[in-house]
Amino acid sequence: MELAGRKALLTGATGGLGRAIALALAAGGASLALSARRAEALESLAAELPGDGHRVLPADLAEPGAAEQLAADAGEVDVFVANAGLPGAGWLGDFTPDQVTRALRVNLEAPMLMARALFPAMVERGSGHLVFVASLAGKAASPRTSIYNATKFGLRGFALGLRADLGPKGVGVSLVSPGFIREAGMFADSGAKPPPGLGTGRPEQVGDAVVTAIERDKVEVAVAPLRQRALAHFGLASPGIAVRVQSGAAGQKAAAEVASGHSEDKR
Ligand SMILES: NC(=O)c1ccc[n+]([C@@H]2O[C@H](COP(=O)([O-])OP(=O)(O)OC[C@H]3O[C@@H](n4cnc5c(N)ncnc54)[C@H](OP(=O)(O)O)[C@@H]3O)[C@@H](O)[C@H]2O)c1
Repeated sequence: MELAGRKALLTGATGGLGRAIALALAAGGASLALSARRAEALESLAAELPGDGHRVLPADLAEPGAAEQLAADAGEVDVFVANAGLPGAGWLGDFTPDQVTRALRVNLEAPMLMARALFPAMVERGSGHLVFVASLAGKAASPRTSIYNATKFGLRGFALGLRADLGPKGVGVSLVSPGFIREAGMFADSGAKPPPGLGTGRPEQVGDAVVTAIERDKVEVAVAPLRQRALAHFGLASPGIAVRVQSGAAGQKAAAEVASGHSEDKR
């Protein structure tokens, strides 16, 4: 699908990666409906994007019914990018039941419910594209990440299954799976360093990956240096060995740094 002249709905637009995705989509000629909770940040992003026709739709996707309401408010869109997410970092035992529900709702349930609301019109038109921003944490698990892993493994499964259903009906479904991203976004905000030798990607690469996924109808675009992608793939293929390695001292240290770098309001 060519982006120029298309209408796109983007969640998590105020975040580090959301901003880069918004810039890439707008540079490709799409007009955007930008969503997140912070209305002022959405307004200033909309004002600085190239092109016109951009609008803002503030929503708290942790609230029951908000996902369906946002899809209804967006109206007819050609592209949906489900990018909003919480880090869900820390020991399971440190999360209240409400915090578990919140992470599941924002990271997994909201993308599913919004896709459910938006795809029928796309099928009717015989065109449209859904992009789910997952993570390499949707392929390989690590310590103090069980809730985040659950949401991203789930999102990968959902998107791949949905692609099998909607592809034959002319609607594309893609995953964009970043690894550790520097400079902006939840990993950079945690202040943690990536484990030695693994490298990092840039927010702009995530924006480009979303555009590539849409324009070339990719199943999945990973945004990470080769070594990180290979390790994530190994984690998917050989979870027993991968989890044993990750549970070692280096993995625990890296995971503790990320978890302690996120404030309580990120739960
Ligand atoms: N950064 C990385 O290294 C990395 C790596 C792999 C995958 N990812 C994925 O990339 C996506 C974007 O992450 P990011 O790094 O840009 O994180 P971020 O900077 O923390 O941004 C998160 C975004 O989600 C929105 N959000 C959070 N809670 C929400 C809620 N209850 N309702 C509506 N929106 C909500 C935030 O907006 P408001 O606060 O304004 O609501 C913000 O726009 C996430 O799905 C994340 O899992 C990131």
